[in-house]
Amino acid sequence: MTTAPRTAPQTAPFGLYVHVPFCATRCGYCDFNTYTASELAGDAASPDGWLAAARAEIARAARTVGPRRVDTVFVGGGTPSLIGADRLVAMLDAVREHLPLADDAEVTTESNPESVSPEFFDRLRAGGFTRISLGMQSAAPHVLAVLDRTHTPGRAVEAAREARAAGFGHVNLDLIYATPGETDDDLRASADAVLDAGVDHVSAYALIVEDGTALARRVRRGELPAPDDDVAATRYELLDARLRAAGLAWYEVSNWSRPGAECRHNLGYWRDGDWWGIGPGAHSHLGGRRWWNVKHPARWAGALAGGTSPEAGAEQLTDDERHTERVMLRLRLAEGMPLTLLRAGGRSAAERAVAEGLLDPAAHAAGRAVLTDRGRLLADRVVTELLVADDAPAGAR
Ligand SMILES: C[S@@+](CC[C@H](N)C(=O)[O-])C[C@H]1O[C@@H](n2cnc3c(N)ncnc32)[C@H](O)[C@@H]1O
Ligand code: SF4
Repeated sequence: MTTAPRTAPQTAPFGLYVHVPFCATRCGYCDFNTYTASELAGDAASPDGWLAAARAEIARAARTVGPRRVDTVFVGGGTPSLIGADRLVAMLDAVREHLPLADDAEVTTESNPESVSPEFFDRLRAGGFTRISLGMQSAAPHVLAVLDRTHTPGRAVEAAREARAAGFGHVNLDLIYATPGETDDDLRASADAVLDAGVDHVSAYALIVEDGTALARRVRRGELPAPDDDVAATRYELLDARLRAAGLAWYEVSNWSRPGAECRHNLGYWRDGDWWGIGPGAHSHLGGRRWWNVKHPARWAGALAGGTSPEAGAEQLTDDERHTERVMLRLRLAEGMPLTLLRAGGRSAAERAVAEGLLDPAAHAAGRAVLTDRGRLLADRVVTELLVADDAPAGAR
């Protein structure tokens, strides 16, 4: 089946990502830049040390970008809810103090179901947050156990309801699918639980076995089977059908929303926007220059306390690198990308992808490359084929 192109609203041109590097425990599958209390020592890596350093980095960002309007703020982790609502609101106050925050700014924080409460959500709402993203992962207790999640399945749904009751019109639940041991019925139950929670946004990722994680060691020792690609494809279709029937449409390969509830901050990344990353290990992008901070929270805070930049490295993307990134990211969006972004070879590959049922013929006739339902399952392959064929000199673009 083919899909009509869906156009999401135009995104904000400038966002702030704020990284909170603390977790109560480490989930076995996760390789994000996050630390448990026992892995950290010293004030500089405490939540208060984090807040002081975040304030300093926000002030530095403001000195560099000048009075540039901030349209979206996204606090991610780690587990931002672990540092409490007061610190998160104090961080947002620092943004307002140093930069013009748009009146209609989207301000999201990720949160874990076990470290939130009705009071937490009330405080965030009063402090100017507009959107909550909760890690649910699964409604099946045995799947949560494989993922080392410490909350019960019901707690994530309850937390989403608490956020809505506090006045959050935009609430996301994250799911992970194709975990070893998960059945089709388990994923159906997860989809039903998400819909029952009344959220307007769902992100769902196939479980990735990241090198160096406890999960990778368990798979290597044969304690758990590796996730299966065919199973992941079937589960993706199952989830997509369930969400679609309930009025949540895909707008990025791993993201579904009600109309108008797309995450504007993430659309900024996917549409090649500018953002500044605050926090240890955070990445930034301004007009083709990319840089990233030192990863360890104490080293990051120490640099800022000493009045120096926490930057660990930087690169200026070449035109070809930017082109590759644009195609990789924009093709994953339901709005797709204009065929004019491709050179002659890439446009021929797009025609072949239409013939194979991977790109939508109607959208193609209207000048855009848009994945079909089948194309979404093979998105990486389509991207590779377009880019490999897209071999004309840069001046031809
Ligand atoms: C960095 S986490 C932050 C959210 C929050 N700490 C939590 O876990 O609830 C963001 C999301 O990335 C996804 N994720 C992290 N590692 C993953 C992996 N190895 N495979 C698939 N999804 C993953 C999970 O769905 C998670 O909710
Ligand atoms: S998935 Fe979330 S809670 Fe688990 S370790 Fe990663 S960031 Fe922390």
